[in-house]
Amino acid sequence: MKSKEMPFGKIVKTEKTGDAVVVTFEHGELEITAYTDFIVRVFADLSGIHPASFAIEGNKKTGIIVSVEEAKGCVTFTTKELIVKIRDEAKVDFYDKHGKALCMDYRGERKGAKTLSLEMKQFVEQEGHVLTEKDANHRIQSVKKLDAGDCFYGMGDKTGFINKRGYEYVSWNTDDPFPHVDSYKSLYKSIPFFITLKEEGVFGIFYDNTNRTYFDFGKESDDYYFFAADEGDLNYYFIGGNSMEEVVRGYTYLTGRAPLPQLWTLGYHQSRWGYRCEVDIREVAENMKKHGLPCDAVHMDIDYMRGYRVFTVDEEKFPDVKTLSKDMHEMGLHLVTIIDPGVKKDEGYSVYDKGMEKGYFATSPDGETYENAVWPGTAVYPDFGREAVRKWWGENHRILVEDGIDGIWNDMNEPASFKGELPEDVVFYAEERKTCHSEIHNVYGHNMARATYAGLKELTGKRPFVITRACYSGSQKYALAWTGDNQSLWTHLQMAIPQLCNLGLSGMPYVGTDIGGFGSDTTKELMCRWIELGSLSPFCRNHNALACKDQEPWKFDEETLEIYRKYLKLRYALLPYLYDLFRQQEESGMPLMRPMVLQYEKDHETRNMNGQFMIGESILAAPVVEQGATRKMVYLPEGEWYDYWSREKLEGGRYIIRKAALDECPLFVKAGSVIPHYPEMDHVSKEKDKTLILRVYPGEEGEYFHYQDNGEDFAYREGEYNLYRISLKDGQVSVNLEHQGYAHVYENILVQCKDEFINKVITY
Ligand code: GLC
Repeated sequence: MKSKEMPFGKIVKTEKTGDAVVVTFEHGELEITAYTDFIVRVFADLSGIHPASFAIEGNKKTGIIVSVEEAKGCVTFTTKELIVKIRDEAKVDFYDKHGKALCMDYRGERKGAKTLSLEMKQFVEQEGHVLTEKDANHRIQSVKKLDAGDCFYGMGDKTGFINKRGYEYVSWNTDDPFPHVDSYKSLYKSIPFFITLKEEGVFGIFYDNTNRTYFDFGKESDDYYFFAADEGDLNYYFIGGNSMEEVVRGYTYLTGRAPLPQLWTLGYHQSRWGYRCEVDIREVAENMKKHGLPCDAVHMDIDYMRGYRVFTVDEEKFPDVKTLSKDMHEMGLHLVTIIDPGVKKDEGYSVYDKGMEKGYFATSPDGETYENAVWPGTAVYPDFGREAVRKWWGENHRILVEDGIDGIWNDMNEPASFKGELPEDVVFYAEERKTCHSEIHNVYGHNMARATYAGLKELTGKRPFVITRACYSGSQKYALAWTGDNQSLWTHLQMAIPQLCNLGLSGMPYVGTDIGGFGSDTTKELMCRWIELGSLSPFCRNHNALACKDQEPWKFDEETLEIYRKYLKLRYALLPYLYDLFRQQEESGMPLMRPMVLQYEKDHETRNMNGQFMIGESILAAPVVEQGATRKMVYLPEGEWYDYWSREKLEGGRYIIRKAALDECPLFVKAGSVIPHYPEMDHVSKEKDKTLILRVYPGEEGEYFHYQDNGEDFAYREGEYNLYRISLKDGQVSVNLEHQGYAHVYENILVQCKDEFINKVITY
């Protein structure tokens, strides 16, 4: 399945077909297709397979009109928004509609990396240094001209900082328990999408190749950047737009958007590896209540299974999950269980037997079921690329759903394997097509999440709550994600901001870190600072590794508990705002948690900003992420701002230093904003429809749309929702019900300016 080698030679023929043009070169063909006026795909069939995309569902071509002009050595392909010039040697250059260059193929040769002699290598390795050989060239590579001011964003969960300039990455889903640091090339997710922000102009590139792919954003050279692979095709989408926001819109148009979640899932989740029996779970629930900590879910890690067999429960330790979940529901809590893909090899265990009988597991090239090891010991791997397998897997969740389980957490789906990585030739299928691990690896978790999502939807009719660790582009349609096994390190708290923001730019809006850190032991101070950030992350869960120091909030002193409570209360107060952002995200692809640069891309100050972020358009969060710090330097962009806590009005366009004692997370609100809040609550319940508080931050006249529905199922898609238009004019607030399809309109809407309620308005 190796691809043919580049290069292409001179143009010999051009053929226009509707919205596409096929340019034939002396050695190969390029197919350029306009999906929209801003999205153009560049495709060279190098594998001879024409694989269907795993990321893109359905036909995204909008049938737009393109014009094609031919001249010697150059074909010009024009949409309403872009000009694409294809030249000899398959060089492709993109310009905006005014002819300004955006993305030019690099004309020189790659320099390649420095190589060391074998002796030198062995000498260096004596002390344990590991040197990796680098290929100067890949079979498939698209090398682009790099300009001085170019910044790069996206790429999923990669470590390091918001701007990826100067770094290289590999997309190959990787389960690595060591502390994730800036030099890591791969983590759990492969989202081969990046945004290039230029001095002037912006665009995105999505390299839809599920094989191992390589990205270099100016590490090798200041003259070029590239993306590459050794297998698969040249198959990338150029995504233009007038702003970063439009590029994100385009990428999520193509790969899909996260569906609105159930409202409770936005609440707080308490988890740990090591809740060994039912009593442990009940104790967590009771402690949350006892300490006045709002909460909506407790997670059950692998400890609940019988010998780590998926879709089983250890009846000695968890004798009655049905009653447990019923009692939890009565307390307003939900239960979420982990499900890993590895199925224990064990005759007599129905999941294994059934999978074997039907041939649902991956095999070695000789046809034998492929075996490796994960938590249950020797295990086999379901082949999720096949519809029948996904259906079977989805249906397996019935026992958990019948036991009252409310959500599923997919882990180890890179897939993890304790006895070395799966060989590249392990046989998997892409629906009917036989293929192998090297093509499927990066979509293994994606397909597992897809199966889980479909299964839960079928079984419950509710919006499925699925968490996944491994992802590919488009996984946002099925699952939210957490950043895997971070550690209780200050550097990991710092990294949480750029990592979650880049995931958002990569189409994944519903993301979070393990609050407090998963591995190693947290400290009181780190815990406090982490919940301050975590309470503002889209997904909010404290999770901890087996044998690490306990980190449930009540395991610390009174002060920590108080701080923890304060931020959980803040989160619950902001739930209607977060939910509104989710609804907007479903329509626009804009993530909830936004790097400053997404909101203020013209302001160069924001391009490398790692220490603060926006929540939607209106709230600026600047959590303290440094040990010992009691001040935070905050950049307030142009305009007027309010300190969320003190209500002090502040002039923007400058840096300020905000004092930030241990219990203070600096937050600011843009003048002219309305932020909906809930009154105090300890979990999401029907009470949510009683009272809404509109906190007003006076400024220029503004408008805000607030969305309300049952928070559970898909009825909203049939119009069962309410949409309130809130207008801010001359310091007065009025509320109009723009759309009424959900029966429970608020009983009260209170308007709060400063600390006073200024008026009480209901205008239906
Ligand atoms: C993996 C997961 C972690 C989980 C553990 C045990 O390390 O990333 O979240 O607790 O497995 O299931």
